[in-house]
Amino acid sequence: MNRPIYFDNNATTAVEQSVLDRMIPYFTMEYGNPSNTSHVFGWAADEAVQIAREQMANLLGADPQGLVFTSGATEAINHVIKGLGKGRTSGHIITAATEHKAVLNACEELESQGIETTYLPVDQNGQISVEQVKAALRDDTFLVTVMWANNETGVIQPIKELGLLLKNHPAYLFTDATQSIGKVPISVENVDFLALSAHKFYGPKGVGAVYIRPGKPVIVLPQLLHGGAQERGRRASTLNVPGIVGLGAAAEVASACLESGYREMKAQRDRFESSLLASFPDILINGGDVDRLPQTSNITFKGIRAAEMMAEIGRIAVSTGSACTTGSGKPSHVLSAMGLSPDEAAGTVRFSMGRHTSVEEVNEALDLLCAYAARNQPVSI
Ligand SMILES: Cc1ncc(COP(=O)(O)O)c(C=O)c1O
Repeated sequence: MNRPIYFDNNATTAVEQSVLDRMIPYFTMEYGNPSNTSHVFGWAADEAVQIAREQMANLLGADPQGLVFTSGATEAINHVIKGLGKGRTSGHIITAATEHKAVLNACEELESQGIETTYLPVDQNGQISVEQVKAALRDDTFLVTVMWANNETGVIQPIKELGLLLKNHPAYLFTDATQSIGKVPISVENVDFLALSAHKFYGPKGVGAVYIRPGKPVIVLPQLLHGGAQERGRRASTLNVPGIVGLGAAAEVASACLESGYREMKAQRDRFESSLLASFPDILINGGDVDRLPQTSNITFKGIRAAEMMAEIGRIAVSTGSACTTGSGKPSHVLSAMGLSPDEAAGTVRFSMGRHTSVEEVNEALDLLCAYAARNQPVSI
């Protein structure tokens, strides 16, 4: 049977073959423990980890010493938010209503300690403004946490401008850049912390990193996991060497094809959206008026149950607006925050294309969607 068309790259991506090739020897030949400095197996593994750290840092314009490898973005996010909140019984965090649940739930967890959170509302395109953050800042605000780009809509937030705003305030700026790595240029220039996950940019699952700005003034975060002295004492546990090698290799590939990938994916997405508009004239392209990731189309098909439409079509793997984040069947909190009604959210599909999405796949998806539209035209009497 023909494999379905994969338009769910914001959920996860395939591991790039060249990335897998680089990882394999670290399972079978170079399987040393990088903490073991007494023989060549340990040295080889340690060298591979340091190369990966540099590859990842290059993509972010970061000092490699600022990176700590984790099991993914969720761990990185929990480390920063709960780490900064540890031991506090008061204080204030600013975030946005459309953040990933890892951020929202970590903030909620701190509220039980007495910390307050402001969840900024977004505009109809899903963006917050610098002015909103400025107005919400308080003397006791210790953290502003805003994602670089949204996982459901691809909408990009004004991170650089927030960084400039916070130059005059002691609050830290943290960005969850999980969806933007490898899709748009990312820099840590204006942020104190950043979270990422390899499987969103053609690396393996189960590995990610947190960037913690090194240098002065020194940022003190409690140790993430207690035990050995790995990651300069920040996170104990034997390093996932093959995974880390894969993360670094994926970052290197992403650096090399960032510009061409952006252009090609955006051209595919724009063609996809304009062809859809021809068949479904009253679709909404959520976030369509602002800067967004080049391969994410979040589309509301008015009057249509998206899950039913995609089930009937069958061949296109996507996420639908009622279950993007939790599989709970509740309307997506992102779409609700953007002002969509529960019915509109239920009519929404996230199509997330990828680096390897072909013209033929886009054409086939369009044919299937347009045929569905033709079968389901409202009948005029
Ligand atoms: C924006 C964003 N943040 C965080 C995460 C969590 O990443 P992981 O599951 O790799 O920990 C995801 C995954 O969907 C995401 O899209």
